[in-house]
Amino acid sequence: MTTAPASTSATGPQILKDPVVSVQPTSHTRPPSTRTTYTLNTGAKIPALGIGTFQDPDSQEDTVCRVLQHGMRLIDTARVYGVEQQVGKGIKKSGIPREEIFLGTKLWCNDYHPDDVERAVDDSLRDLDTPYVDLLLMHYPCTFKRGEDRFPRDAEGRMIHGETTFVDTWRAMEKVVKTGKVKAIGVSNFSKGEIETLLRETSTVPAVHQMEVHPYLQQKDFNKWLREKGIHVIQFSPLGNMNDFYRQTGWSKDIAHMMRVIDQPLLKEIGQKYGKSPVQVVLAWGINSGRSVIPKTVIDWQIEENLAADFELDAEDMARIATLDVKARFNDPSFDYEWRLYSDLEGIDGTVKGRTH
Ligand SMILES: NC(=O)c1ccc[n+]([C@@H]2O[C@H](COP(=O)([O-])OP(=O)(O)OC[C@H]3O[C@@H](n4cnc5c(N)ncnc54)[C@H](OP(=O)(O)O)[C@@H]3O)[C@@H](O)[C@H]2O)c1
Repeated sequence: MTTAPASTSATGPQILKDPVVSVQPTSHTRPPSTRTTYTLNTGAKIPALGIGTFQDPDSQEDTVCRVLQHGMRLIDTARVYGVEQQVGKGIKKSGIPREEIFLGTKLWCNDYHPDDVERAVDDSLRDLDTPYVDLLLMHYPCTFKRGEDRFPRDAEGRMIHGETTFVDTWRAMEKVVKTGKVKAIGVSNFSKGEIETLLRETSTVPAVHQMEVHPYLQQKDFNKWLREKGIHVIQFSPLGNMNDFYRQTGWSKDIAHMMRVIDQPLLKEIGQKYGKSPVQVVLAWGINSGRSVIPKTVIDWQIEENLAADFELDAEDMARIATLDVKARFNDPSFDYEWRLYSDLEGIDGTVKGRTH
């Protein structure tokens, strides 16, 4: 099933980027400036560099339009971000043909009951104003009580979980693929054990795992294992603790205030060699590791900076960035969701310790 990402050698699975194909610009756009793509285990191509759309809902329509016109072709959104309408409008406004865009959204935890999944996909497609998405991710492995309320809590404020499991949800997602409304399915925020359960109990290998990866949380063994399984990784929070959200939620209060990843002097030093900024070095590190990156920004100059982050880093510089791995995880809502997330993964010591489900 896997076409490109999981070629294994004695030293582990190789990172295979697709050959670069030159694209003719259409009349009102620049050619795609994010050149690197990978091949998913479905055979579809996914760009290495994209944009995230969490937060700033009022700016997302313009931002999505602008990044598409500037050559970006990977858009990451989610039902729970509440911006699918804005993303859909931005795509339409950009004039870029839908089939040139890789659009992914995520199912939220209150829609995990198997009888709700296809209806939830229909809701997303309606808001995104598209007949299909290229990727549907299960946002977290935890299930919440089905119904309108995205965060259903009891009188004491404790999260009410659903009665089905993520395996039931996955099987329902597999069925939606057959309708053509979803081209590929994947997961997000899963532990290794949870993915192993899917591999054991269902028939579709996730095309993607979207998870937190940045120089402070490199998850080397887990990334290697995912590549061996043919599961492509999209890094969320690729810049680490840049997003103020982590400082505000308290999910990672012990560590969110540590030096920002992009302020590390080593990244500045490496950047000077290539005429690139620390942000660009961090994004290029992800791309050169065989992963996609989806930095979020709605600011013009930052968009331009991120768009120019698809460049080759020398092996010696990749090795130096590897030394920044302090296993600092910033996205850990285990306590809030009352589900021990990432239980067999690195970086949960510094985060709020959640109760075990
Ligand atoms: N699957 C999941 O559970 C999950 C979790 C978190 C995130 N995500 C996805 O990943 C995307 C990105 O994650 P994130 O927002 O947590 O982390 P991020 O992209 O690493 O960081 C975003 C922050 O970096 C700033 N920034 C972006 N480009 C910059 C540049 N060139 N120079 C300086 N600052 C820059 C942004 O500033 P401004 O805000 O000022 O533009 C924002 O504050 C989200 O939008 C979402 O799509 C998924």
